[in-house]
Amino acid sequence: MKYDFDNAKNRSMDNSIKWNAEAIKSITGVADAEPFWVADMDYECMDEIVKAAGKVAESKIYGYPAFGRIEEYARQWIERRHGWKVGEDKISFASGLLHGIASGVRLFSKPGDRILVPCPCYKPFRKVTANNDRKLVEYPLSYDSGMFSLDLERFLKEMESIDMVLFCSPHNPSGIVFSESELASILKKAKELDITVISDEIHGDLVHPGKRHVPMGKVAEDVGAKCITYMAPSKTFNIAGEHSAVAIFSQKWMKDAFDKEEEALFLTEPGHFVGELFIKAYEKGDKYNSELTSYLKGNRDAITSFLDEHLPEVKLSNAEASFVTFLDMSAYYGKIKKVVEEKSDEFPPAPEGGVLSRFFGVRAKVAMNDGTWFGKGYHSFLRFNYGTDRKRIIKALERIEKAIKAL
Ligand SMILES: Cc1ncc(COP(=O)(O)O)c(C=O)c1O
Repeated sequence: MKYDFDNAKNRSMDNSIKWNAEAIKSITGVADAEPFWVADMDYECMDEIVKAAGKVAESKIYGYPAFGRIEEYARQWIERRHGWKVGEDKISFASGLLHGIASGVRLFSKPGDRILVPCPCYKPFRKVTANNDRKLVEYPLSYDSGMFSLDLERFLKEMESIDMVLFCSPHNPSGIVFSESELASILKKAKELDITVISDEIHGDLVHPGKRHVPMGKVAEDVGAKCITYMAPSKTFNIAGEHSAVAIFSQKWMKDAFDKEEEALFLTEPGHFVGELFIKAYEKGDKYNSELTSYLKGNRDAITSFLDEHLPEVKLSNAEASFVTFLDMSAYYGKIKKVVEEKSDEFPPAPEGGVLSRFFGVRAKVAMNDGTWFGKGYHSFLRFNYGTDRKRIIKALERIEKAIKAL
C-alpha cells in the first residue's frame, strides 16, 4: 500500500466543520465528542493534490485563471473508472454538486412539482426542493434487519403521480449500490411518463471492491430517457471544501439550457484552487482511489465483526460504498429514550440532534448524525462516518458498547 490511511488526522485545529466544537455540540449537546458525522474523511489528500494546492499558494498572485474545458479531465476519469464514454457535448462543470442539482431542478421542473426521493434521504435534498418551491415526495426504502432495498414495483407505481425523480446512487446514508436492471426500470418508466431523472452520484467512485457502480446516465443512453447524472471529485479525493462537480446530460438541449443558466448567473469559472485540485484528482487519482476503496471496505468489515461479536443487536446497513452507514439501534432505542428523558441535566438539548445522537455524544463521546436528520421514521438509527483510521473506529465502537451495556 502506498497510502497510509491508518494515520488519519486529528483536524480539530483545522477549520473543519466536522471537527468544530460548536457544530458537534449542535448535534450531541456537548462539544467534546469525537466526530464521526459530516461526510468527509480524515485522510490527508494524495501528494499530487497537496502539491498542486501548494503551487497555487506559492504563486502569490491569484488573478483570473484559464482552465478551458476542465470537464475533459472528468470525462477521461469517468471512462477509466466507470467504462462510460461521455460525449463532449453532454458534460458541464458545476460549482458543487448541490448547486448543480438545484440548477437542474429549477430548469427541468416547475414550482409546485412533486419530486420523488428515496428515504432515508440526505437532508439537503429537502432544502433543494423546498427552497425552489417544489414538493419532496418521500419514498421509504424497504427495510429488513439491516438491509435497505428498493421495492421496484412500489417505486414505479409512485412515479406515476410525480414530476421528477431525485435519486442518490450509491445511496447516502444506507450505502446501497443499485443494479443496472433497477436503474433501467426506473429510466424506462421515466421515459414513458416523460419526466426527468436526476441522479446524485457523488459517492459513485467509492464503491467497495467486489461491487460495481453503474452510472444512471450510461443506462439512460440505452433507454433514451431524460436524465442528469452528477459526479464529483469531492468525496472521492477529500476535497469537498473546494466545491466542484460535473453534470452529465442525456440530451444536448439539456446541457445548452444548463450552460445558459450558469452563464446568466456568471457561475461558469472555477477558482485557482478549485480548478487545480479538480484536475490533479481526476488526472492522478487511480491508485489512490483503488487503495482507498479497499481500506474503506476493510473498515466496514471491521465494524461488522465488532458488532457481531460485541453488539449483535445493533445492525449495520448495506454499506457497500463510501464511508457512511446507518446503524440500527432499535433494540436499545426505548431504553435510551427513557434515560435521556429522565436525566435531562446530563443530556443537554441539541438543536440539530435527537435522542440517540445526544445519548452517544454524552455517554460515549462519539458524535454521529441522528437518524431524524434523514426523515420521519428513522429516529432509531444513527449515521456513522467510517472515513477515518481503523483504531479510532474500534475505540469509538468500544465506547458505544460500554454506553449500551451500562443502560
Ligand atoms: C449525496 C450527497 N450529495 C451532495 C453532497 C454535497 O455536495 P457538494 O458539497 O458538492 O454540494 C453530499 C455531501 O455530503 C452528499 O452526501
